[in-house]
Amino acid sequence: MIPDLVVLGAAGFGRETLDVVAAVNRAQPTWNLLGVVDDAPSPANLERLAALGVRHLGSLAEALALTGPLHFVVAIGAPSVRERLAGRCEAAGWQPATLVHPSATVGALTKLGAGSVVCAGVAVSTNVTLGRHVHLNPNATIGHDTSCADFVSVNPGAIVSGDCRISTRCLVGAGAVVLQGLSIGPDTVVGAAACLTKNAPSGVVVTGVPGRWA
Ligand SMILES: CC(C)(COP(=O)(O)OP(=O)(O)OC[C@H]1O[C@@H](n2cnc3c(N)ncnc32)[C@H](O)[C@@H]1OP(=O)(O)O)[C@@H](O)C(=O)NCCC(=O)NCCS
Repeated sequence: MIPDLVVLGAAGFGRETLDVVAAVNRAQPTWNLLGVVDDAPSPANLERLAALGVRHLGSLAEALALTGPLHFVVAIGAPSVRERLAGRCEAAGWQPATLVHPSATVGALTKLGAGSVVCAGVAVSTNVTLGRHVHLNPNATIGHDTSCADFVSVNPGAIVSGDCRISTRCLVGAGAVVLQGLSIGPDTVVGAAACLTKNAPSGVVVTGVPGRWA
């Protein structure tokens, strides 16, 4: 019997994650998708779930009452929200699922942490380490020997070069570039289309080319 899966989040990344689940299941039946958990889905997102034929299972509090050996992914882009919700699910005994779209490429010696979601067209190079609950959005690229710590988000089309250290809860915006060998401190955001050319401290917002912060 294939394991039950719950996806947290009915918004954009939630439904992109449903696409990953569907593609994985087309390649090989892997997950029994029970539905989507969301405390306050918008009417538009409820309609979109219905169009996909996917059930809304109610709030997280309601869903946590479900029994059985459930697997989950938190498909919510904001790293700190993801961390909080993953903690609640794990405290309830749910197991994080790791989802990799069949069109993604993943190099040798790469480690993918539990709860991570790797979307269509992502290129993960060799000897990369992804922590837990990392999101790699469509067409992101992660260079050789780089590590992305727990709860990192790399948004669509961003390029993190080789030998980088991306700390916990960082978000690398759409189309941004992080040059090789750089480190980014925890909770920093690299804005969309920025180019980071030197190490960034924790908790800053980097914008522009070259990337600058206050
Ligand atoms: C950089 C970022 C974090 C700033 O967010 P914010 O604090 O809410 O900023 P605001 O939208 O209030 O904009 C503040 C100023 O920064 C500018 N700005 C916003 N994003 C910028 C970016 N990526 N690069 C350069 N300038 C940017 C705005 O034009 C605005 O300038 P102004 O004060 O001269 O009008 C955000 O815009 C961003 O790029 N996030 C990543 C988004 C992403 O990847 N989206 C894809 C999702 S799939």
